[in-house]
Amino acid sequence: MNVGILGSGDVAKTLGAGFLKHGHAVILGTRAVEKLVKWQSKHPGAKIGSFAEAAAFGEVLVLAVKGEAALDVLRLAGSRALAGKVVLDTTNPIAAAPPVNGVLKFFTSLDESLMERLQMANPDVRFVKAFNSVGNARMVNPQYAGGRPTMFICGNDAAAKQSVGGMLDQFGWETLDLGSVEAARAIEPLCILWCIPGFLRNEWTHAFKVLHT
Ligand SMILES: NC(=O)c1ccc[n+]([C@@H]2O[C@H](COP(=O)([O-])OP(=O)(O)OC[C@H]3O[C@@H](n4cnc5c(N)ncnc54)[C@H](OP(=O)(O)O)[C@@H]3O)[C@@H](O)[C@H]2O)c1
Repeated sequence: MNVGILGSGDVAKTLGAGFLKHGHAVILGTRAVEKLVKWQSKHPGAKIGSFAEAAAFGEVLVLAVKGEAALDVLRLAGSRALAGKVVLDTTNPIAAAPPVNGVLKFFTSLDESLMERLQMANPDVRFVKAFNSVGNARMVNPQYAGGRPTMFICGNDAAAKQSVGGMLDQFGWETLDLGSVEAARAIEPLCILWCIPGFLRNEWTHAFKVLHT
């Protein structure tokens, strides 16, 4: 599969390496290709390009940019390159203001998530929220004594979620589908919860798991 990753940060680099490891062709997209020269020297199988080039290349796309820039990056990617594609949305709407006692601030509300804004602006894109509520160091085949952790996903397109579920299985996760795009109102704030032990006690290695009877 050709995977286009929009982003040059830790999430883009980690998932890029993960998709390469699992045999996919990968291009990372950025406004500043020089940022990725060192990373590419360690991952010679990957290509680097603009956001538009990454979007055009990918059969599946990963959106891994700062939440505040997500709408702009999709504009730079271009609606023609995005149309109809599955986009794994890893973004969180983290506000510029600092956390309060370890609790991040968001620029969205509990009645409107970032993914809903992205979906509204790009109605023919098949967004699936994924990978937003775990640190990048544990995104690819994490090892936990308690077994596979749970990845919460949502999105409006059932086939897109099924295909993302297959990728998550490859990446060592069990998937919990929480329904349509509105569920991002609940999934995005899991990032706030996940980060609290990090800010308070420098604990950044946990992951969520849902237990069933
Ligand atoms: N870090 C984690 O462990 C983690 C875990 C889960 C979810 N997330 C979420 O995943 C996303 C990516 O996180 P990250 O830590 O890898 O990177 P990040 O530092 O949040 O974002 C870096 C990316 O954002 C783009 N960007 C920033 N400002 C921009 C602007 N004004 N216009 C266009 N693009 C802009 C950069 O573009 P250029 O490449 O052009 O510089 C770069 O690709 C975030 O939404 C974050 O909340 C992060």
